[in-house]
Amino acid sequence: MLRRITSLMKRNGFNSLDEYFLKLKTDKTLLDQFINYFTINVSEFYRNQTQWKILEEEIIPKLIKVKKEPLKIWSSACSTGEEPYSVVMLLTKFYNLNNIKVLATDIDLGAIEKAKIGIYDEKALKNLPKEFIHRYFEKIGNAYKISDQIKRAVEFRKLDLLKDPFPKGMDLILCRNVLIYFTNEAKDLLYKKFYDCLSEEGIFFVGSTEQILIPEKYGFKSVRTFFYKKIT
Ligand SMILES: C[S@@+](CC[C@H](N)C(=O)[O-])C[C@H]1O[C@@H](n2cnc3c(N)ncnc32)[C@H](O)[C@@H]1O
Repeated sequence: MLRRITSLMKRNGFNSLDEYFLKLKTDKTLLDQFINYFTINVSEFYRNQTQWKILEEEIIPKLIKVKKEPLKIWSSACSTGEEPYSVVMLLTKFYNLNNIKVLATDIDLGAIEKAKIGIYDEKALKNLPKEFIHRYFEKIGNAYKISDQIKRAVEFRKLDLLKDPFPKGMDLILCRNVLIYFTNEAKDLLYKKFYDCLSEEGIFFVGSTEQILIPEKYGFKSVRTFFYKKIT
């Protein structure tokens, strides 16, 4: 991290971190560049396929059984949209598309803008079931454009996990491939915030390198690897 910050600092002509930090506080363009440099937006549809199978075959059917109303779903570091759009497509197996709503947030407005445009290269779709590609994408040259009906099911918002209040009563929270960038103190705080905004039966879904070491410490128990719920 230090190496990366120092390199960016030098690239902008600063010689000390103090000097660079002071300028970041007042120069919005420089701050945006800093944020873009550190928010790694790599994503893909159905990232870690096996877990999406578990989501489809076990997690969602159980949630639907216990919750009568539509599920409240939040993709909390949505990047360029692959994750929330994957959830919407998966949910079409259970609900009519008009009744699906997924909240998607990220700190990076640039990523959110790309998500709203919804154009992806073939690589991003490699794990997505073919039926979804045929049904919900239009091929434009080498790129794939997601359909407006899928887009309409996602509400994008800017949200900084470390600073902003969380939405309440979520039945499924996806927080994947972002906590790896945070300190242990930040993770501690975030697990508590996620616990508080999860509904009683809700599921907290993390990335493949982000298993919670002692979930009980935060009031969670593991229902499947990478899926947690509240201890009741
Ligand atoms: C590697 S992407 C993960 C995308 C998706 N969840 C996935 O697993 O494919 C990490 C995302 O976390 C976002 N991010 C980093 N820090 C954040 C913060 N403090 N609050 C919200 N989002 C953050 C970045 O902007 C980036 O889009």
